[in-house]
Amino acid sequence: MKLRSIELALPDSASAASWMVEIWGLSHAQTIGKTHYLRGTGSDPYLVAFRESEKEFVQSTTFVGSQEELIELKHKVTASGWPCRPEVSSDPGGGSGFLVELPEGVIFRFLTGAKDDLPMPGATKASKRVSPVRLTHVVFNAIDAELMADAVVETMGFQVSDRTKGMVFVRCNERHHSTAFARSGFSSLNHIAFEMEDLDAVMRGIGWMRDNEFKPAWGPGRHGPGDNVYAYFIAPFGPVVEYSTAVEKVSHDYAAGEPEDWTWPDNRIDQWGISDKDFGSLREAEQRFCCFREWEQSPL
Ligand SMILES: [Fe+2]
Repeated sequence: MKLRSIELALPDSASAASWMVEIWGLSHAQTIGKTHYLRGTGSDPYLVAFRESEKEFVQSTTFVGSQEELIELKHKVTASGWPCRPEVSSDPGGGSGFLVELPEGVIFRFLTGAKDDLPMPGATKASKRVSPVRLTHVVFNAIDAELMADAVVETMGFQVSDRTKGMVFVRCNERHHSTAFARSGFSSLNHIAFEMEDLDAVMRGIGWMRDNEFKPAWGPGRHGPGDNVYAYFIAPFGPVVEYSTAVEKVSHDYAAGEPEDWTWPDNRIDQWGISDKDFGSLREAEQRFCCFREWEQSPL
């Protein structure tokens, strides 16, 4: 199973798409009707979809898996009693599967048979620009992060990688986390993280963003759980987006750490300790996009 894409609905989707291409570094994949699909340099047909809508919300977060994985998942989702609906994707790559609304309203879409595209070359160093490769994680704020983690573990077969004072990190393959639930006291999208080729690409990305007058809201730094390098920014249309790289790969029997295993010395919240964090602006941005179910449930 892998995390593939996130589908957002928002006003002025064309401006948002243009910022993601011109500044953030994604490439235009396709526009279908009033939905803009943007891709990275990897083989996923798109990473982000922006659909025109008066209301801003997260339509779905899409995972792709094998037919066998989806059959097993379908039984568990049906048994859970959560709202769900069969789905035939009309997005680039196609595929079919289902949508499910987890507790706290988080909507995941699972597809099988979705087609990949050919990888494409990224920006050259000389251009000063950077090109995200794929999505690496999508994190949600939660009223009850443990309940959310239990939901994806029990029903979707995901595994908890680590728990900290602030988050529960969850994986669906060998990457340390593809999603996580923050102990925030409210439900919403926390941030969307894009995988960069290497550390140099993250650092050059920060430079390019600074050239365009966007300073990191947090970073650069290196997290404890997952060991990944990060730089967080607030996109002008709302959500928190991250350049990330080098997330740890873990084995099936990785022993999940507990909050007491992940503590920092005073005045330190990452491994490097070189950057300040703009808590206020991040918190405000994190509250903008919530998941919203527009569809009626229907048996799988
Ligand atoms: Fe992140």
